[in-house]
Amino acid sequence: MKRTKVKAVLQTAPEGQEVLVKGWVRTKRGNKYVTFIAVNDGSTIHNIQVVADMNLFTDESLRDITTGASVSVLGTLVQSQGKGQTVEIQARTIEVLGTADPETYPLQKKGHSLEFLREIAHLRPRTNTFGAVLRVRHAMAFAVHQYFNEKGFFYIHTPIVTASDAEGAGEMFRVTTLDPVNPPLTETGEVNFAEDFFGRSTNLTVSGQLEGEVVAMALSEIYTFGPTFRAENSNTSRHLAEFWMIEPEMAFYELEDNMDLAEDFLKYLVRYALDNCQDDLQFLNDMYDKELLNRLNFVVGNEFQRLTYTEAVEILKTAKQKFEYKVEWGTDLQSEHERYLVEKHFKKPVILIDYPKEIKSFYMKLNEDGKTVRGMDVLFPGIGEIIGGSQREEDYEKLVARMREVGVPEKEMWWFLDTRRFGTVPHSGFGLGFERLLLFVTGMGNIRDVIPFPRFPKNAEF
Ligand code: 4AD
Ligand code: MG
Repeated sequence: MKRTKVKAVLQTAPEGQEVLVKGWVRTKRGNKYVTFIAVNDGSTIHNIQVVADMNLFTDESLRDITTGASVSVLGTLVQSQGKGQTVEIQARTIEVLGTADPETYPLQKKGHSLEFLREIAHLRPRTNTFGAVLRVRHAMAFAVHQYFNEKGFFYIHTPIVTASDAEGAGEMFRVTTLDPVNPPLTETGEVNFAEDFFGRSTNLTVSGQLEGEVVAMALSEIYTFGPTFRAENSNTSRHLAEFWMIEPEMAFYELEDNMDLAEDFLKYLVRYALDNCQDDLQFLNDMYDKELLNRLNFVVGNEFQRLTYTEAVEILKTAKQKFEYKVEWGTDLQSEHERYLVEKHFKKPVILIDYPKEIKSFYMKLNEDGKTVRGMDVLFPGIGEIIGGSQREEDYEKLVARMREVGVPEKEMWWFLDTRRFGTVPHSGFGLGFERLLLFVTGMGNIRDVIPFPRFPKNAEF
């Protein structure tokens, strides 16, 4: 007989039909007449209740059915007598596929802290919380592709190993096959990367943008969705060393169009979660954050506030709140400042534009004032920056001048500069941090809890 997933079983009208379910035992309880076994197979946050009539089973035959054990249950689907579920399975046979010794199974008891669960990242998908987070993560990834597909954007796979530093921030993981103990040396005693696998020094990508721009100069509207790597030593609840980023890049878009797309895209994703992840979001709302659903609905239903960096600095300078870091025109905003604007001042998502060029990447389009660039950051409640993007500098001369100013190697970037030499057009794009989006949608407080196997300084065990 074919196995039915628990989600489907729970949606089936019970008419005493035969069903086969397989999954992991969450709880077992009962008395001498009947044993109740809650089985979960990850297809939904809900368990199916399996009822074992003790006229048919013995304590001995159910001995190995403990929390965490895997089982295959054959029985009939009936209306539930008890509270809390509509259907249940009256078991005919229960086969234990794999035991889980109660003495040593780490998830024997409920209610472990998220910190503890991080230490057993290989088992935490079996908890309600991580099951919910991972299902929402899947739904959001799917919605990303659906959104862009509906809009006629093409999904482009950009390289993971690259020779360039797309953000010019120097936070890269080196990729090499050279012997770390005895690397080949140049005449001047430096490591000779000409002898390395690619014949040059390479690293893991920090962003697919530059390659994305290249393809947008042919297919008009593209997006990337892949892993990106940053060797910044940020031990915060919002940074990972390996995270996933969605980067649309659009020919013929100016900054206004870019902002419109970012706002529409974020609202679409949040609405998709509200429409398709109700059970999981309700669980997360009840367990961790009673304001979660309200916040999600608010974002979908309200315009984002748009203002310039300069206007934001004015607001922050006159704010009554004490900040740890002082705000002056020209300094990068800290997360405390971003959150003040979003949570206290405007009480809604904010899009900041026209940043001082010194604190932004070399590729952003210079404004007429010569001081600011057409960058945009989307700031969200509880998160701070969720999207970073810009209109790009499409003028060859201006771009080269900027690269020289900040020391981006012009020679190695010849292929990128070619986009500005041949058929250049105004274009724009942005990057959405997928895990930052998930922090917002799930209401989880730490970015390490929205990715199955987090990578952060001093941690790559699993
Ligand atoms: O602002 P960032 O650095 O922008 C770029 O990488 C551009 N190339 C994007 C583009 O215009 N195509 O990063 C974009 C987003 C941030 O807003 C944030 O959401 C996320 O990526 N992000 C991180 N997420 C988790 N951990 C980190 N260390 C992150 N760094 C950036
Ligand atoms: Mg940024």
